[in-house]
Amino acid sequence: MPTIMQTRLLQSTLSSIATSDGAGVKLRRSIGQKPGLYFDPFLMLDAFGTEHPEDYIRGFPPHPHRGFETVTYMIEGHMRHEDHLGHVGDLRPGGMQWMTAGRGIIHSEMPMQTEGRMRGFQLWINLPAARKMDPPSYRDVDPSEIPVLECEDGSRIRVLAGSAGTRERRIEGPIQRPDTEPVFLDLELTRDARLAQMVDPDHHAFLYVYEGSIEVGPQSAKQPVPIDHVGFLSAGERIEIQAGLDGARVLLLTGHPLGEPIVQHGPFVMNTRAEIERAIRDFQTGHFTDTGESGAP
Ligand code: FE2
Repeated sequence: MPTIMQTRLLQSTLSSIATSDGAGVKLRRSIGQKPGLYFDPFLMLDAFGTEHPEDYIRGFPPHPHRGFETVTYMIEGHMRHEDHLGHVGDLRPGGMQWMTAGRGIIHSEMPMQTEGRMRGFQLWINLPAARKMDPPSYRDVDPSEIPVLECEDGSRIRVLAGSAGTRERRIEGPIQRPDTEPVFLDLELTRDARLAQMVDPDHHAFLYVYEGSIEVGPQSAKQPVPIDHVGFLSAGERIEIQAGLDGARVLLLTGHPLGEPIVQHGPFVMNTRAEIERAIRDFQTGHFTDTGESGAP
């Protein structure tokens, strides 16, 4: 006998706020906009989108990260990534880079255009204590590697990480990660489109609306999520989204919570204050990118 599936309800919404980062890049921050405003395992979500070069031209010059993963997804524009390990990545429309900072990476992300529109997202996903000091790694994902699920009503689902689809037909994205098992979907919904997705009941799930508007939840309890807002979802096995009259573009993210203490100092995210102090000391003394095997002081 089939069991009745629990559709997740909208629990709360959060408006993104205008801020800047790097060398003055203007963006909108939702998750992570205040200390402690995390949604385990997600630490931060920034949306950038502007046609004014002065809002992005200075980019993100070299800076460190330790203890988590950064994901950059580009909708429009051209950025270049370089890091201390010699990775060079060209981030173009529809492409993504997935960087596991682990014990430490120093990288830059600089615009490769002096005019035109720049639009995309950066997401930070935590690593469990046991993997925070793993060697860093980097993967450049070309747009052609990102599968697109075409729905009957013309809507599209880009599967950036994890999987999407129906029980019978799952589509896997190019990135599969252990521990946090992130599912990262970019939904392009047509006018009035109704979309249902099965999700892992153990995952935390949220949405970010970046075009149009949506309602979330079962037919009898739909709640609106406005543009530039996060919608946090309750527990359940299914997500139902209804697009408004102008359609919508929405990021849908789910992940397995780690349930560990989080101590953050800017670009370092560890479990204890002592580990943060160690990260700062390593950075200041030039040991940040040491392999660690020899035991830095
Ligand atoms: Fe960075």
